[in-house]
This record gives sequence, C-alpha cells and structure tokens, in this order.
Amino acid sequence: MAKLEARGITKYFEHESHRLQALGGVNLKVESGDFVCLVGPSGCGKSTFLRIVAGLEKPDGGQILFDGRPVTETGPTRIMVFQEGALFPWLTVRDNVEFGLKVSGIPREKRAEISERYLDMMQLTKFAGSYTHQLSTGMKQRVAIARALVMDPDVLLMDEPFAALDAQTRDLLLVETQLIWARTKKTIMFVTHNVAEAAVLGTKVAVFSNRPSVVKREIPNDFPRPRVPDDKELIDFQHEILQELRPEVRKGGGAGAAAAPAAAEEAPGEGASGANKDDTDAEGTVAVEEEKRREGGTR
Ligand SMILES: Nc1ncnc2c1ncn2[C@@H]1O[C@H](COP(=O)(O)OP(=O)(O)OP(=O)(O)O)[C@@H](O)[C@H]1O
Ligand SMILES: [Mg+2]
Repeated sequence: MAKLEARGITKYFEHESHRLQALGGVNLKVESGDFVCLVGPSGCGKSTFLRIVAGLEKPDGGQILFDGRPVTETGPTRIMVFQEGALFPWLTVRDNVEFGLKVSGIPREKRAEISERYLDMMQLTKFAGSYTHQLSTGMKQRVAIARALVMDPDVLLMDEPFAALDAQTRDLLLVETQLIWARTKKTIMFVTHNVAEAAVLGTKVAVFSNRPSVVKREIPNDFPRPRVPDDKELIDFQHEILQELRPEVRKGGGAGAAAAPAAAEEAPGEGASGANKDDTDAEGTVAVEEEKRREGGTR
C-alpha cells in the first residue's frame, strides 16, 4: 500500500469573480521512503496540492489517502516546511526547534534530548541560544527543517525550502538533505522550480501540467547517491524534465506565467544572463542549462 496517495484531487478558487480551477484531478502515489520532487509552471497549484496533502486545505474533489486512510485534517504524521521557514523571532533556535514538542506535551528533558540530536544533525549546536535575526538565511532554513524533523513525521512536505538561498548554501543543503533522508528514511514531497535540485534530490520527479493541473508525467531517478548538481550524468535527466516542463510553462498565460516572463520565447543562450535566476523560474533554468550544454558540450 502506498504511504500517500492522491486520487483525483481537484481545487477551485474564486478569482476576480470567476472560478479558477487550479487542480484538475491530481493522481499521485508516493511509497514509503520515496523522495518525490514536484515541478511545474508557476501558479499551477503545487503549493495548493501540498497544503491539501498536509490537511491545511480541503480539496473540492478527490481524496488524499495516508496509509490507506483518508486525510481530513492536519496531523503530526505530515509536517510542512515553508519557503521562508516561518520561525518565531522571539524564541531562540533551540526553543524554535522544540516548539512542536512542547505543544505536544513532551517533558522538558526529553525535548532537550531530541532537539540536541537534530541541532547537531543540522550543525546548529553552537547557535542553539541565538535568536533568528542573528542567523543567515541558510541557517534559518536549517532551523525550520530541524523543527519539522523533531516531530518525527512520516512525511515531510517541503515547499521550495531552498528558493531564497544563495547557490553555495543551497548546494550544501542539497547534500545534507540527501544524508538526512538516507539516515531517517523519511518520505519526502519537495516542491521546486529548479530542475537541477529535483534531479539531485528525487527518487522520482512528478511534472505538473499547466492549470487545471494534473501530474503529466512521473520520471523515476535511480542515479547513485550522493548526487551533486554538477553531476554530468544528471544533465540528460534534467533535460528530460525540461522537455515535459517547457510546453506547460509556455501554455501558462496570466498568473501561470508570472514567474516565467518573456524568457519563454527567449533564445536559449540569452537567458543565461539570469544564471542566479535558476532557483526561481523554470524557463530561466531551461536557458541556463541549455547555455551550459552549448558551451563545448562538456555537460
Ligand atoms: N487562497 C487563494 N485564493 C485564491 N486563489 C488562490 C489561492 N491560493 C492559490 N490560488 C490560485 O491558485 C493557483 C495555484 O496557486 P499555487 O500557489 O498553488 O501555485 P504554485 O504552483 O505553488 O505556484 P508557484 O510555483 O508560483 O509557487 C494560482 O492561480 C493562485 O492564484
Ligand atoms: Mg508555490
């Protein structure tokens, strides 16, 4: 039985007095221990889908099954990590990490024992007494991940957790995330705009179509680990993802194209000027990767 299964998930929103269908019947099976990366055009409904899986939002149709049982509300089995970490600025790093445990009524000593383990895992021990404004963006994101992990969820739901990071910090976290995943055997669903990130992390990549979104294709990825974004062997895999993604990004007018502006019709090389854009917009990534390929075909 799948750990998580989405069956025909549909979702509508009111948009300027008309009904906008975000999700058009999403089907997805996630096995225990899978690391599924979700990619798709901006505005197609990835975050909405993740919130529905978390139980933070209700679908208009379809069902999420967790261990075969319908999900109707939030629960400690499925924990979400948001892009901006959403930490409490008035709490120290340690108290942020222990927050969920405290709310769950775990006694102080046990809390300290658990948080120490994860602070160590995320290399935050030295900063346990610091406040979040004293941390870098990458460190905050690690606190957010530690805070989710202490709850020992079966499923970790991550919505573009690395989007705001600089490339170096992101590369470090890509390696750390693979190690944590290998060590904890968590089932992870991970939304990203960055195909390199998806190729490095995923046991499979689910490509979402333009709205109303469905899972257009699931691409398994069994390249050996640990993987790094520079792995030459992964470049072809990234292109396979892009081939599915590009027509969907192009289709998206309006909100769907918001984060993928004129780049859609740009000659591949031109987009390379946005080399640091590759973590925020799919077509930017397309352009950057194609530029790399054109440069002597070394990748
Ligand atoms: N609470 C809401 N009220 C109205 N419309 C909404 C709401 N939440 C999402 N939408 C709309 O639903 C669509 C999907 O939004 P969602 O945030 O899930 O997309 P996304 O794929 O995560 O986009 P991005 O990649 O830019 O983060 C968008 O058109 C958005 O405007
Ligand atoms: Mg989103």
